[in-house]
Amino acid sequence: MSGRLTVIGLGPGNADQVTPQARQAVAEASFFYGYKPYLDRLELRPDQTRIASDNREELARSSEALAKAAEGHSVAVVSGGDPGVFAMAAAVCEAIEAGPAEWRAIDIAVVPGVTAMLAVAARIGAPLGHDFCAISLSDNLKPWDLIELRLLAAAGAGFVIALYNPISKARPCSSAALSSA
Ligand SMILES: C[S@@+](CC[C@H](N)C(=O)[O-])C[C@H]1O[C@@H](n2cnc3c(N)ncnc32)[C@H](O)[C@@H]1O
Repeated sequence: MSGRLTVIGLGPGNADQVTPQARQAVAEASFFYGYKPYLDRLELRPDQTRIASDNREELARSSEALAKAAEGHSVAVVSGGDPGVFAMAAAVCEAIEAGPAEWRAIDIAVVPGVTAMLAVAARIGAPLGHDFCAISLSDNLKPWDLIELRLLAAAGAGFVIALYNPISKARPCSSAALSSA
């Protein structure tokens, strides 16, 4: 019997920016998979279980969650912000594509969230009022050459650019790399 897997966006961090739909989805799930800091935001009941995993383990986390849902459980995979923006919804879709046929029978839903980009934009005014784009500076899943190409193309076309993942432990200063572009 196939269960259900819901990918839930928890918003940028403030409790009052979690949507009612996301709260409802959290109330309905039994097993929660995600990066520990996002799971720590949840106030779960004793009958609900957290399964934390590290950053950069998105595909393995998705596969584990799908396997649990395929056993008939109600499973949630949580993301900060919106789960479709540099987050878990894409990893879950990729895991389904590469996984066993039975995973395609799982009832999958994506619950949107307030992205960090929109929350920051609202705080500073209306920088996204005209054409804009979002570019992640993380080179975990794409080569740095491609990131540079996209930055130059977006800047050349006059887009306002929301930069995600500006630094990481392995990439403490993107600006040095950018200045050589
Ligand atoms: C893996 S991406 C997740 C993006 C998320 N799904 C979203 O919709 O905003 C993580 C990056 O999002 C940005 N981010 C996430 N939460 C943020 C916040 N509360 N304030 C500013 N930036 C944030 C940072 O650039 C961080 O490195």
